[in-house]
Amino acid sequence: MFKANDPCWCGSGQKYKRCHRSPEQQLRPGALSPMRTVPEGIVRPDYAETGEPIRRPEPRIKSPEIIERMRRAGFAAAEVLELGAAAIAPGVTTDEIDAIVHQAYIDRGGYPSTLNYRGYPKSLCTSVNEVICHGIPDDRPLVDGDIVNLDVTIFLDGVHGDTNATYGVGNVDEHSKRLIEVTRQCLALGIAAVVPGRPFSDIGRAIETHALAHKYDVVRAFVGHGIGEQFHTDLQIPHYFEPRMDVVMETGMVFTIEPMISMGTGQHRIWDDDWTAVTADGSRTAQFEHTVLVTETGVEILTQIQPG
Ligand code: MF3
Ligand code: CO
Ligand code: CO
Repeated sequence: MFKANDPCWCGSGQKYKRCHRSPEQQLRPGALSPMRTVPEGIVRPDYAETGEPIRRPEPRIKSPEIIERMRRAGFAAAEVLELGAAAIAPGVTTDEIDAIVHQAYIDRGGYPSTLNYRGYPKSLCTSVNEVICHGIPDDRPLVDGDIVNLDVTIFLDGVHGDTNATYGVGNVDEHSKRLIEVTRQCLALGIAAVVPGRPFSDIGRAIETHALAHKYDVVRAFVGHGIGEQFHTDLQIPHYFEPRMDVVMETGMVFTIEPMISMGTGQHRIWDDDWTAVTADGSRTAQFEHTVLVTETGVEILTQIQPG
């Protein structure tokens, strides 16, 4: 057994009792607030009442008119993410961030895409420390030294814009800072691999190569996805090299790239809430996401406030 003051087995360099991978430091499910409501005037996606999206064929190559709407949704998503991020501080609960983000979608005339999507109960995902993705906002106050991902998706003008980023809370240890920076670089390298005529597998190769060079692992269970009038279309974009992924990128395609990178294993477990995905070994993970458009010359990031 590890004694409280021994260095942690995980190599973080911290005392075991303080290390995020010691059992007493691991995250636990919190309590949820009642489901938030959306004003009548806001146009809802088909699943808003039933919880089940209706699958329908949707062209992979978007029309100029849809692309224009996706630019607006992407820009709005980026603004909402920035507003949510500004609220991050020690002592703030993830539910308080949910409330801010929920209102920010509505202020822009949008619907929170995640709300009742396959029954998901909240308006964004908040994934803390060892949570890989799909963390549900609850009554846990953020703690100094946490890392937290905010994943924001807006349904605006009939289309979705999906983006996320990971932030430090207060003073964060050097290992976690490095994880966040390498993951940010993984997304940038994945985006740089978007070139019309090239296979989708180029994206995963660029991401995986960078993660492995830093002795990190890529989470394989969750992938990027086609997006448009539907939140998730059939197109899948792995964040690791998958040579069978021979589909070719074409001008006009819109999809997300959203690498999840782990300090330890990329294997995951799902909590009893059926949503929260955590690393199997409790190590911290980070994620960044953009919605991108393949252009004639390369790529346009739709979910950013600076155009281009
Ligand atoms: N925004 C997430 C993604 O990047 C999906 C969240 S779906 C939810 O694909 F139901 F978990 F909210
Ligand atoms: Co996504
Ligand atoms: Co997302």
